[in-house]
Amino acid sequence: MQKVRKAIFPVGGLGTRFLPATKALPKEMLPIVDKPLIQYAVEEAAEAGIEEFIFVTGRNKSAIEDHFDHSFELEATLTAKNKQQALDTVQHMVRHPGSVIYVRQQEPAGLGHAVWCARHIAQSEPVAVLLADDLILGKSCLGEMLSAYTSGNMVAVMDVPENETQSYGIVAPGKDDGRIVEVTGLVEKPAPAQAPSNLAVVGRYIIEPGVFAHLDRQDRGAGGEIQLTDSLARQIGVVPFRGFRFSGERFDCGSKIGFLQANIAFALQRADLQQRLRGWLDERTT
Ligand code: G1P
Repeated sequence: MQKVRKAIFPVGGLGTRFLPATKALPKEMLPIVDKPLIQYAVEEAAEAGIEEFIFVTGRNKSAIEDHFDHSFELEATLTAKNKQQALDTVQHMVRHPGSVIYVRQQEPAGLGHAVWCARHIAQSEPVAVLLADDLILGKSCLGEMLSAYTSGNMVAVMDVPENETQSYGIVAPGKDDGRIVEVTGLVEKPAPAQAPSNLAVVGRYIIEPGVFAHLDRQDRGAGGEIQLTDSLARQIGVVPFRGFRFSGERFDCGSKIGFLQANIAFALQRADLQQRLRGWLDERTT
């Protein structure tokens, strides 16, 4: 099996669901407790053994580049004040020189288009794709997928309520051992009546190089956008395609309710916050 060394992070979206917060701030920089969404995705990928981090950015996204770089003034101040823990936190996230690559998506034309913008960097290797909006509490979802990956394409999947299929890529399932599901069909955002199941794609993918040849066609799909789902679907029957049921809990941080739930769930895991937060929640909700 060819090792998966590279991961693509599409971060060019406009974040219109979070206006006005995202007018000048990239949506991927919104914090869950004290860490931006994009950092969770990068840490998940690093934990899974990814070595090259490819960000597909857009205009107004320079805060993401700064976030993963040194901040000399901040580091000098923390050193002078002997704030070692804070210094470790900010230095730890600066990645190995040359391992972070930025490419611009000039227009937000869909997830497939964003991934296609990274084609020259992905080259002829299987690559991971992580959507920072989908935040997973628990084990590294990509790490679990890579342990089960052999070849072809793989997507993380979970059951969603039947009336929510129009928000996801939906799988037509074949052979299913409870953890790995054969994907026999894939449709982007079908209405419940047209959906082949309620098994939805969550934003973690391992895609093999052949997907880029389909993305090259630049065909528009659901919502008039170039969909990654459509290019993956074209490879069904050509290369293996599997869905992976991950063990963690997924939060849709692209929605306000999911974002709020994630903040609470992640804070409840934190030794420095859980007791006070739980007490306060109990007071508010009883
Ligand atoms: C994207 C994909 C969709 C997938 C979803 C997971 O949609 O196109 O297939 O199910 O991510 O979050 P988006 O949420 O960007 O509209």
